[in-house]
Amino acid sequence: MKKIVIEGNRPLSGEVMISGAKNSAVALIPAAILADSPVILEGVPDIQDVHSLIEILEIMGANVRFSNNVLEIDPRGVVSVPMPSGKINSLRASYYFMGTLLGKFGEAVVGLPGGCYLGPRPIDLHVKGFEALGAKVTNEHGAMYLRTEDQTLHGNRVFMDVISVGATINIMLAAVKAKGQTVIENAAREPEIIDVATLLNNMGANIRGAGTDVIRIEGVDQLHGCRHFMIPDRIEAGTYLALAAAAGNGVKVKNVIYEHLESFIAKLQEIGVNMKISEDEIEVYPSTNLKAANLMTYPYPGFATDLQQPLTPLLLMTQGTAEITDTIYSKRVNHVPELARMGADISVEGNMIILNGPNKLHGAEVVASDLRAGACLVIAGLIAEGTTTIYNVDYILRGYDHIIEKLTAIGARIKMVEEVEAE
Ligand code: EPU
Repeated sequence: MKKIVIEGNRPLSGEVMISGAKNSAVALIPAAILADSPVILEGVPDIQDVHSLIEILEIMGANVRFSNNVLEIDPRGVVSVPMPSGKINSLRASYYFMGTLLGKFGEAVVGLPGGCYLGPRPIDLHVKGFEALGAKVTNEHGAMYLRTEDQTLHGNRVFMDVISVGATINIMLAAVKAKGQTVIENAAREPEIIDVATLLNNMGANIRGAGTDVIRIEGVDQLHGCRHFMIPDRIEAGTYLALAAAAGNGVKVKNVIYEHLESFIAKLQEIGVNMKISEDEIEVYPSTNLKAANLMTYPYPGFATDLQQPLTPLLLMTQGTAEITDTIYSKRVNHVPELARMGADISVEGNMIILNGPNKLHGAEVVASDLRAGACLVIAGLIAEGTTTIYNVDYILRGYDHIIEKLTAIGARIKMVEEVEAE
């Protein structure tokens, strides 16, 4: 069992380099198997979700090499192996194999996706999209069976009742090789969707409108390999910016696309965080007189749900009362009892997190219930007085590339401890 131990309350300074975007990588990797020659992805983060996807690709017959953040995927040996469970259940993004296998072979058997528990996370919109393209989809003993009449999908109009990142990407993946035109309306607009569309277009697809709420896809017969440099992780960047504002004594966050973080940076400015924003880096200076601000999460370009939990420790340091409402995942509140264990005045009332500040946190033994709750607890541990031990850290390693090394480099006293369990 792994745990993270932090000696808190040390001023952090220096530079942090942001890695490639997790939520882009986990879609780009399945997308690569649509090609009929090798795809090279650059800037890929070294995180557990990427390693899980590589294992899945290898089971399917792909030849994969990953070194120095360059991932080479040769999909020529890929066959449509039934993937009912195992690795598939270890992450959310395995649902992208439904779209890619369906697009490539006209059939797929893929287990239900796992991932962080943030309340109910249905995939009805993915299914609705596949069905609109002509697939028959059934759930048999916890695995999704996707079939087509003649191994062919047919373009169609798909309206998203709810704005969904995963469903938008999955329908795009299925539709790139369909016959005719697919139009996705009320599509999600996240930067990761543009990144996936850019890769697919470089592979020979014909996708227009990614990044707006209407995406038009003209199906093509064949897709080929290419080289693609992926976007930096806006959620990792936001996490380090929040950390720098809460515990920093001058921290520069590098490899950032500011435009992907506008709503987050506006919130930091509202709180009173001092920053210098340059072309691809943001420097956070020590700030005083931070004031509380309410927060509501929305689909992009609104405030990202994934940054709600990492921002909470900073809000705990501000003067006043703050209300946090997550309109995407109303149950994304599992960090709250852990922060309360560290001495925070924070509670959940209805679908709202309410906190009063400023708070002085003390070290405690806490449990990461999901990826971003884990990041929140790391930040809380860094600002707390004394020692914080975080359990369940595999969640954190799923999405944060070399987090211990990056934090140690800016002066944090943080280590990973692995306990060997007695037989
Ligand atoms: N939804 C449905 N039906 C569906 C799909 C989604 O009702 O078929 C609802 C969800 O329940 C949720 C909302 O739509 O209330 C938005 O969910 P979305 O489909 O956009 O989420 P996702 O694609 O499963 C991705 C990220 C999440 C991030 C959300 C929202 C990946 C692998 N995951 O999930 O990232 O929170 O978008 O931006 O891209 C994380 O990185 O920590 C993480 C959880």
